[in-house]
Amino acid sequence: MATILDGKQLAKEIKDNVRMKVLELERTTNQRPHLVVVLVGDDAASETYVSGKEKAAEITHIQSTVIRKGTDASEAELIELLRKLNNDPLVHGILLQLPLPKHLHQERLIAEIDPRKDVDGFTPENVAKLVKGQAGILPCTPLGIMRLLKKYAIDPSGKNACVIGRSQIVGKPMASLLLEANATVTICHSKTKNIQEISRNSDIVVVAIGKPEYVDDTFVRPGAVVIDVGISRVDGKLKGDVAFDLAARNAGFITPVPGGVGPMTIACLMENTLTCFMNQMGVSG
Ligand code: GUN
Repeated sequence: MATILDGKQLAKEIKDNVRMKVLELERTTNQRPHLVVVLVGDDAASETYVSGKEKAAEITHIQSTVIRKGTDASEAELIELLRKLNNDPLVHGILLQLPLPKHLHQERLIAEIDPRKDVDGFTPENVAKLVKGQAGILPCTPLGIMRLLKKYAIDPSGKNACVIGRSQIVGKPMASLLLEANATVTICHSKTKNIQEISRNSDIVVVAIGKPEYVDDTFVRPGAVVIDVGISRVDGKLKGDVAFDLAARNAGFITPVPGGVGPMTIACLMENTLTCFMNQMGVSG
């Protein structure tokens, strides 16, 4: 029987800890962290993420503001907004919700965010630090996955790890973190010829391709760790990228959807917001 990696429980522990620190810092600094989420357009999945973030901010006593812009917002208007937020000392974290409407240049806009306020770890400076193995702000989903592995005493060192998906948000930073933790990492993507075989030869499989129930038992070697990042809505039900019941037959450890990676991403966002606040206030943890 596979052990279920309980992201919901660990996320609660992380949020409780963030809340305690925020309350303590509020007593000493008279301020609390302030996260601003910029949401452009009306992407349905983004609405769901953003409401989850707001709920977590409330739990952790982090101040949260959502700035909504229409689908037709111009790049110049958004750059002006991001610069204003960069210069506002009462804003400690800035999150530009992705995906952006097609006419906007995602990388140019991300690069406008002050790296010290970049709670996603997506700016060129923070990505460079990640790849170099230097301390910086780490992207929330890969960070949450590393936390979950640690909680269950799963050490990637010397293991074969396979990351299915090469997005900027998950696949690429995940591969960097696993490499930094001394795993031997293979990144699979749409042009990879033998994903099933590579996956079956891996001790750790992270799936982030957005194809519901793509990975089944034939992708999983006995005892492997299976991490499911996908969330798709199919006929009103949430589905991951892993066919859970089939994969769990072979897996040693597996994350559920919901209740696995999703809550960890949001908890790590709260933690990153706290870290940015502390760095800007010049206090250490
Ligand atoms: N869209 C989906 N996941 C994320 C995330 O982690 N950060 C941002 N900014 N947008 C997202």
